[in-house]
Amino acid sequence: MQALVLAGGEGTRLRPLTRTVPKPVMPLAGRPFLTFMLDWLRGHGVDEVILSCGFLSDGVHRVLGDIYQGVRLRYVTEPEPLGTAGPVRLALDEGLLEERLLVLNGDVLTDMDLSAELDAHRRAGASATLALTAVEDTSSYGVVPTDERGWVEAFLEKSPGPAPTNRINAGAYVLQRSVVEDIIPAGRPVSFEREVFPSLIGHGLHGWPAEGYWVDIGTPERYLEATYDLLSGRPKSALPPRDETGSLIGAGCLTAGAHIGPQSVLGAHCSVGSDSAVERSVLHDGVVVGADCEIRESVLAERVQVGQGARVEPGALVGANARVAPRGLVEAGARVEPGEKVG
Ligand code: GTP
Repeated sequence: MQALVLAGGEGTRLRPLTRTVPKPVMPLAGRPFLTFMLDWLRGHGVDEVILSCGFLSDGVHRVLGDIYQGVRLRYVTEPEPLGTAGPVRLALDEGLLEERLLVLNGDVLTDMDLSAELDAHRRAGASATLALTAVEDTSSYGVVPTDERGWVEAFLEKSPGPAPTNRINAGAYVLQRSVVEDIIPAGRPVSFEREVFPSLIGHGLHGWPAEGYWVDIGTPERYLEATYDLLSGRPKSALPPRDETGSLIGAGCLTAGAHIGPQSVLGAHCSVGSDSAVERSVLHDGVVVGADCEIRESVLAERVQVGQGARVEPGALVGANARVAPRGLVEAGARVEPGEKVG
């Protein structure tokens, strides 16, 4: 089975973290995000994944290579961003697509039953099937009402106000190659959500109600939510055991005398000074925190340095190589650009 993973977006909502690392390979619970997705795909019989890259594409290839646990990885790189559907057309034009394929947004952490989605697609004789997951607040997603047999009736992309259903587009599709050939134009950006799916309504567009865990890690809040969920074991993953505070400390970290946890992740080779507290926070590789610091509910990208006695308040995102001065303050919700100095 073949899958194409959309991995070329700029990830603007996760800036400044995505200024230096593309979202698909950003560390999540200490591992490149896409490795969770590749484990999941492999578990459903996928043996070839086309990674559709654009923004910072070298970063994706460098991290994942050409084979992952027996799954062959191929790369298609766009000279210009082609949106969500344009890259699938490009893969077709490069002669890479099989008769039927899975297409996945590259920022979804889920354990939904893809095999059941494929079965539902075959049984319905659909041209395209969308996994639909239930959420409490639909306002930032594409809402997809279906009739009682599962055929899609409308595609309401990110509309405010009351929605006809709480089922939203989960970014996991089964597509017949004919859809790509007949509906997606070549050579320009095309959006599944705004163009392709609305035009397929009434022409074999099917919805499959997905159960299980699902989160799109594309905002800071949801990136942290996915981190806490993985640490607590839902969804299941191949993470190493967490310590007694539910935290994960990477190789080569120095934390003597520091208070790490609860629910924190330290990447490889971080150091946290004595009497410092790191709570519900994520430190990517090589972060150095001095003594007597407080880091709460924040994300610090690789090689950030935090001087003695400094504070990083909840919701802050600190870009790679930034420096927080001794006794400095990164205020709640702040965004610190890569390399920036904070007093
Ligand atoms: P935001 O800028 O924060 O909205 O993030 P994003 O750029 O990732 O956009 P969005 O979350 O809407 O994208 C959904 C999926 O499609 C993600 O996995 C993106 O990597 C991917 N994607 C978005 N635009 C493109 C594109 O132009 N080309 C490719 N290959 N993938 C894309």
